Amino acid sequence: MKERFICKSPGKKSLAVVLRDKKVISPSMTREYDFVWRKARGCYVWDLEWHKYLDFGAAVAVAATGHANPDVAKAVRKQLQDGIHAAFPDFYNELPVRFVEKLLKFVPSHLEKAFLSNSGTESVEAALKLARWHTKKSTLIAFTPSFHGRTMGSLSLTSAKPVHKERFGPFLDVKHAPYPYCYRCPFGGKCDGDAQVCSSDYLSELERVIKSCKGNAAAIFFEPIAGEPGYLVPPKEFVVGMRKLANENGLLLCADEVQSGCFRTGKFLAMENFGVNADIVSLSKAIGGGIPFGVTLSSSKIMSWPSGAHANTFGGNLLASASGIATLEYMKKHKLGENASRIGKIIQKRLLELKEEHEIIGDVRGIGLMQALEIVENKKTKAFAPEMRSKILCKAVEKGLILLPAGKSAIRICPPLTLTRQQAEHGLEIIEESIRVVSRK
Ligand SMILES: Cc1ncc(COP(=O)(O)O)c(C=O)c1O
Repeated sequence: MKERFICKSPGKKSLAVVLRDKKVISPSMTREYDFVWRKARGCYVWDLEWHKYLDFGAAVAVAATGHANPDVAKAVRKQLQDGIHAAFPDFYNELPVRFVEKLLKFVPSHLEKAFLSNSGTESVEAALKLARWHTKKSTLIAFTPSFHGRTMGSLSLTSAKPVHKERFGPFLDVKHAPYPYCYRCPFGGKCDGDAQVCSSDYLSELERVIKSCKGNAAAIFFEPIAGEPGYLVPPKEFVVGMRKLANENGLLLCADEVQSGCFRTGKFLAMENFGVNADIVSLSKAIGGGIPFGVTLSSSKIMSWPSGAHANTFGGNLLASASGIATLEYMKKHKLGENASRIGKIIQKRLLELKEEHEIIGDVRGIGLMQALEIVENKKTKAFAPEMRSKILCKAVEKGLILLPAGKSAIRICPPLTLTRQQAEHGLEIIEESIRVVSRK
């Protein structure tokens, strides 16, 4: 069988694993490179051939405290001896309670209760069910593009790539409004420089969608920074206006902070960058320090559903709770939010300089350590350049840097929040070299 390797062929040991994987693992996975992990520590990952890579992906925004964080690993090891799973939905246990009490100290005070689960999609499903339960309404509003997960409820909200949804319908009743994508403004380029005008166009569209629900809409689901299309950052005016529209129309606002939460943007919740509170917040990825964990937060008034309305088997799992507590403590002790802001600014400044130098960098955007570059054929046409994007990713990995693709032709930068200035500069050098090589061709 002839294998098509996206990057240069992997080493012999890695190749053997790739071939075994292809035989037994569902081909629905989305592997960009034939890269086989051996181990990971801090901001570095090693492949099976012991090549060392700087990681600007953090296992897709999970390893916020760094891979195999020693404090987190110690807490998990200790918990392994005291019990792994205690059927928290059926029996009381102090550890998950302690985790939630700690987490509540990091978030705005109107968030008072948590539902615990195991993944991002489950934390969105819980938000979706809670919104319907509380409002007694069924239609949901989400955005295009957006990514909220792949189980049927969250997938109904998701609107990113056709492959996510093809053949899986019928879906829940979800109406989609355009997510602010200022680089590709659908309103005749008004976004350029005038956030007020741009926001009012997007808000009019959102209002039109709300009205089309004829009073049956329960909630708006919103990513404070849209991950899948390459970290779109909405104007503050839009987020403030959306909150106002939700209030005026009796809708709940549900923030999907699965990727943007836990200090990735400098603030614990990305919504704080806009000064806006959501009624329901979904967290996952970083919160478990690498152990699967999902958390859905809301007020006591909203989260007042009766026993049995929503539960699961593994929510509040003891390893996840121990890991979550250690993760939050580490984040606070080491001021990871401040580091994300500081290093994020250094990265964005350099990326903006690179944008001036290179015709193929159309846009640079992001907050904190959630940064993206949009690769285009040239600045005038802004045509998507997916092949060029893949070449840049491959060049970077050859030079020892792991980057993530996003959307049609963007590159995501979401390293561990422990990234140092020196590591950031090293990664930026590799990005610069990779772009230089690819744009020369
Ligand atoms: C914003 C957002 N929501 C939900 C999800 C789904 O999370 P999971 O893959 O853990 O189900 C993701 C995953 O990438 C995400 O980025």
